This record gives sequence, C-alpha cells and structure tokens, in this order.
Amino acid sequence: MSEFPFIRMRRLRRKKLLRDLVRETILTPDDFIYPMFVIPGKGKKEEIPSMPGQFRYSIDLLAEEVQKVKEEGIKAIILFGVPEKKDEIGTDAWHEEGIIQRALREIRKYEKEMILIADLCMCEYTSHGHCGILKDKEVDNDATLEYLGKIAVSQVKAGADIVAPSGMMDGMVKAIRTALDKEGFADVPILSYAVKYASSFYGPFRDAAESAPQFGDRKGYQMDPANSREAVLEAELDFEEGADILMVKPALPYLDIVKTIRERFSRPVAAYNVSGEYSMVKAASMKGWINERDVVLEVLTSIKRAGADLILTYHARDAVKWIK
Ligand code: PBG
Repeated sequence: MSEFPFIRMRRLRRKKLLRDLVRETILTPDDFIYPMFVIPGKGKKEEIPSMPGQFRYSIDLLAEEVQKVKEEGIKAIILFGVPEKKDEIGTDAWHEEGIIQRALREIRKYEKEMILIADLCMCEYTSHGHCGILKDKEVDNDATLEYLGKIAVSQVKAGADIVAPSGMMDGMVKAIRTALDKEGFADVPILSYAVKYASSFYGPFRDAAESAPQFGDRKGYQMDPANSREAVLEAELDFEEGADILMVKPALPYLDIVKTIRERFSRPVAAYNVSGEYSMVKAASMKGWINERDVVLEVLTSIKRAGADLILTYHARDAVKWIK
C-alpha cells in the first residue's frame, strides 16, 4: 500500500497552514551572526561598493549601529577591523590600542549582553595581506601561532565573548586555547574556521576589509574546493584541539560539507554565507531578476537544513525582519 494512489504527497501541501505544520526547518533570529566592519576615523559610515547595503563604520558610529542591530533582534555579531597602519607582523592585530580592541571596548560600554565575536586573523593587519608571519614569501605556520595566541588574549581582554580564528594555520586552535587558559580565560569559547576553502567567493570581503594578498594567493593554507575527505580531517583536528564550534566556509557551494561535518561531530556547526554569495543575490535582485526576500530566505533555510546551527550572514538584518 505504500504507493500511488494510496500515497499522495500533495495531501499535506494543499494549504499554507498544513504546510506550516509539517515544515522541518524553521529560521529564527537565534540562528544568525551578523558580520560588521570597523574602520579608523570619526563619524564615518561608508557603503561597501561590492556589497550594497553593507557598511564600514568608524568606532563611534559602530557602537551606535550595534544598538540598532540589537533592537532589530540580532543576538551576535562578528567584527572585522581595518587598521590605520599595517606592517609586516600585523602589530595592530594584538595591540591594546588596535582597532578591534578599541571597538570592542567602546561597544561594551553600552552593550553588556550581545555576543561579540572577534575574527582572529592577521590578513587585515599585515602589509603583505597574508594570514601570518612571512618567511621567504611563505607564511611560517609555527611562527604565526604565537601571534594568534597574543591576538586572542588581547581581544578577550577588550571584551570579546568568543574568538574566531580564520587563518587556517595548523595547530591554531591548540595555540589559542593554551594562551587563553594561561591568562585565566578558560571559559571563553573558540569558534574555529575549521574547514575554510580557498574560495573566489571572498572577493567582495577583501575589498571591504582591505585584506587582499599583495602577492600570490591563499592556496598554500586554505583548502582546495575539490576536497571533502580532507574537510573531515580538518574538522577532526580542530575538534581534538578543543574547538567549541566548527565552521564551514563558504556555505552555499559547500552544503555537502556542512552536512558531513554535522553528522560526524558532536559540536555545533557554523556556516559562513560569505560576501560573494551575498553580492550575487544582491546584484540579481537589484536588477529585478529575482525576488530578494524569497531567495534570501530560501538560501538561509537550505544552509540550516544542511545542518548549520549558526549562520554567519550579511542578510541577517533583513532576515530577522522577514521572518517575524
Ligand atoms: C580573514 C577572513 C576572510 C573572510 C573572513 N575572514 C577572507 C579571506 O580568507 O580571504 C571572508 C568572509 C567573506 O567573504 O564574507 N582571513
């Protein structure tokens, strides 16, 4: 009897309220982490040309904007900084007066509850734009680890609730965990960009964060988009090193990976719906080729359906409005 005409799939699709009753995946504001960019100066709010609707704020305006973001229903943000000065070793990334440290302290003055996540990488802070310390034009993995620990400690001291290492250095989670614990921050979670691909979808972000590599590319440390078994190993290593949340990035072209990581590991999974994914949807909807609201909600639902517990997305503010 398990076939037509006894089975009719359309029975449960006939009315909206019926469909609502049997829906498997439901978006809520708790799912989202909203990325924000901070730049030097005062009174500055600049739209990012390749990411319409997204802005870079100076610290004073960022602190105000965070209040608005919270009122709209967002519960967590991730911060990226563009420093005043870059140098070979990315000094501004861990300096007490670095742009992110100052931004965190300023936001914390007004905002005690919101979850503040600090992206933990060197590429925005180094003059060469690579995610670590260079040796003979290559990123020196082990020399970089010590700096990552320093950056983490400085970010937490400034008010970060979670640190999110995104540089794809081997051993980065362990190095950061060790540094944090030593400073008495054993309770601060690490959201690791565990499975990060060398993706062309990061283009608009690199304009926003002024973090494009000045020579070469990131293929020497980020993953080859063709590989999935390697993703499991990457996640496993970070899991063993103590990552509290495992991230897959980008999201849409890697939903198979999100699903695999979700099935294999008993840790929350985050997926980063990256800048290029945002810009494509935005551009097509500005041209009137797609319906922005419907497409965004479909995209975010599919990321959650694949297994993401958390979604980092530039659509977050629109999404919370639309799912109300
Ligand atoms: C820094 C970092 C990048 C992104 C997040 N953190 C860029 C990169 O690896 O080149 C990309 C985010 C996005 O595209 O939205 N390492």
